[in-house]
Amino acid sequence: METKILSTSEEDIQTAGAIIRSGGLVAFPTETVYGLGANALDESAVRSIYAAKGRPSDNPLIVHIAEKDDIVPLVKEVTPQAQALIDAFFPAPLTIILKKSALIPDATSGGLDTVAIRMPQNEIARAVIKASGVPVAAPSANTSGLPSPTKAKYVIDDMRGKIDGIIDGGDCAVGVESTVITLAAETPTLLRPGAITKEMLEAVIGEVKIAGAVLGELGENETAASPGMKYKHYAPKAKILLVNADKATYENFVNERADAFALCFEGDAVTIPHITYGSENDDLSQAKELFDALRKLDERGAKKVYARMPHKDGVAMAVYNRLIRAAAFNIIDLEKPFTIGLTGGSGAGKGHIGKMLQEHGFHIIDSDRVAREVAENPAILAAIQSQFGAEIVKDGTLDRKALAQIIFSDESKKEALNRIMHPAIIAACEHEAQGLTVLDAPQLFEAHAEEKCYKIIAVTAPKELRIARIIARDGISEKQAEARIGAQFDDAYYTAHSDFTIVNDGRDLTEQINRILDTIL
Ligand code: TXA
Ligand code: MG
Repeated sequence: METKILSTSEEDIQTAGAIIRSGGLVAFPTETVYGLGANALDESAVRSIYAAKGRPSDNPLIVHIAEKDDIVPLVKEVTPQAQALIDAFFPAPLTIILKKSALIPDATSGGLDTVAIRMPQNEIARAVIKASGVPVAAPSANTSGLPSPTKAKYVIDDMRGKIDGIIDGGDCAVGVESTVITLAAETPTLLRPGAITKEMLEAVIGEVKIAGAVLGELGENETAASPGMKYKHYAPKAKILLVNADKATYENFVNERADAFALCFEGDAVTIPHITYGSENDDLSQAKELFDALRKLDERGAKKVYARMPHKDGVAMAVYNRLIRAAAFNIIDLEKPFTIGLTGGSGAGKGHIGKMLQEHGFHIIDSDRVAREVAENPAILAAIQSQFGAEIVKDGTLDRKALAQIIFSDESKKEALNRIMHPAIIAACEHEAQGLTVLDAPQLFEAHAEEKCYKIIAVTAPKELRIARIIARDGISEKQAEARIGAQFDDAYYTAHSDFTIVNDGRDLTEQINRILDTIL
């Protein structure tokens, strides 16, 4: 098919309208992103949209109108809340979902009994709709799964040869798709954040809920209120990782990764290849530039991209919503004090793996060493004395043997000691954390330090191997080594509560470690 590249002249707009009216497909600019328009009331025209985009047919389309009153025949009822939003905002980057009328074919509503309606602000968009004389179904004019197009050239990249025409109307002002709100639910619910923010909507109609999938990943058994949210979205070819960190930590982190790209803010001191998407405190600039930046990363052949985390307030909620999907929900959380919590039973070989991680640039904190230091702290000593008796401290130092005897045979005493020691140990470790940090902590779970770690790695090994290692290292008897192991969680527990397990039984550790680091960083 030959795709006509059209201008915004009156003549070309009439041409576009005629194509749509007669069942064809034309892409046109809106204030959000370019749309791929077809007659919303014509089933076969609508089906050709799905074909051109490669879009799953249960994902409904937004019906675009040129005048406020054009909504009336398309819906069962314009509810008072809908009318209030129309009066306050239309024309706007806002889509309202209501119960549909019989006019709307199933192909347009993806088989749902509701329909999404939007009156765009962009004058060319409205002129095209008007010229067509019909309501216009228009998804974003990208190949399904790719970032939405904010410039005509990206529409041409994706759609040339597949549709009848493309109107080149310059860059889109907003840059992220419209806010989608459903009024067909019990409480008005935001299904997709955009330039019309939750706060703006609430100022008009009161409480607006946020659908679960907006800020997080849809759980396995949850159904998407908006079918579009369950599909892979906005994803360039590159693997994107979203880095949650302050500016300086982000800069240090990416500048050590010269083989990757950064997707950062203007003014970030980034020395590796990078593309910016707006500036830190200007959410409108981020929205406007995000999709363009994602496409540019592909043009530059980026394989791995570290993106700086936007704020989530106001319009930045829309930016965050698109970016976590582009990143397939991969977030590197450097705001957590510990990048990796390394745990496992005695003799599994945590220390050795800690050393290997050190060679990858991690700062290692040995919680056993920190525990010994904490036990010399006068305030802690006093707390232990008041719990276990004054004689547990001799010459200002803890009688470890005596204490070990007491807690070994009495679970409640052990817990009492842990209640004193664990918070102090974790606080001291946290104080030592800097940059990429590994917390080597056999008692990570007992101390409830999971929450403070971005990822947790368990180290496991066969029992005989562990016993042999403990005997060689600590010079204790086999029986004592067995007793020590018996007092700890078993390997299955460590594995079940960790993100990754390294099996230290003579298998290649380098390969196991590299695979984990490649996944999480
Ligand atoms: O800004 C925009 O809205 C752009 C421009 C072209 O107007 N259009 C756009 O359309 O983003 P599209 O198809 O890419 O996204 C429509 C979203 C999808 O997530 C879809 O699942 C949801 O709206 N949607 C449409 N009708 C719905 C309905 N009846 N119920 C729930 N969600 C619906
Ligand atoms: Mg889309």
